Amino acid sequence: MKVVVIQGPNLNMLGMREQHIYGPMKLEQIHEQMKSFAQQSNIEIEFFQSNLEGEIVDRIQECIGDAQGIIINPAAYSHTSIAIRDAISAAQLPVIEVHLSNIHAREEFRRHSMTAEVCSGVIAGVGPFGYHLAMVGMTQIMGELEASQKAQAQAQAQ
Ligand code: DQA
Repeated sequence: MKVVVIQGPNLNMLGMREQHIYGPMKLEQIHEQMKSFAQQSNIEIEFFQSNLEGEIVDRIQECIGDAQGIIINPAAYSHTSIAIRDAISAAQLPVIEVHLSNIHAREEFRRHSMTAEVCSGVIAGVGPFGYHLAMVGMTQIMGELEASQKAQAQAQAQ
């Protein structure tokens, strides 16, 4: 099973950027932790970060037929991007959205996520640990999906 982790604009600046909101951890460190969880759980994992909306849309589309799940922090695009929202809907894969900060406790314009509405789940406000929780959630969702697909195939074979 393969999970693709997609990180939106300015998340490459983690560790330097507004530490009082996003904390001191760098994106590479977050990814290292996710990688070790994936290894222990026998999950293939790939990471992608872009500051460009179209590149994020392209990466989501590439997941179709290739990955079984997506963990995404669309960052500022969460609040604005119909294109990323449409790409998530079109992918028809389990998608978990992560926000380091609690977007519901911040400025008004951050309180609504266009992309979260089409995701399987959302985790916000627990910092980098949110990515770990997303991995645990994704493992559970992918396991359930695999089991139901197997059961369906068995029922059809009878
Ligand atoms: C963020 C929240 C967004 O509002 C913001 O634009 C980000 C990061 C978060 O992880 O808390 O860049 O997605």
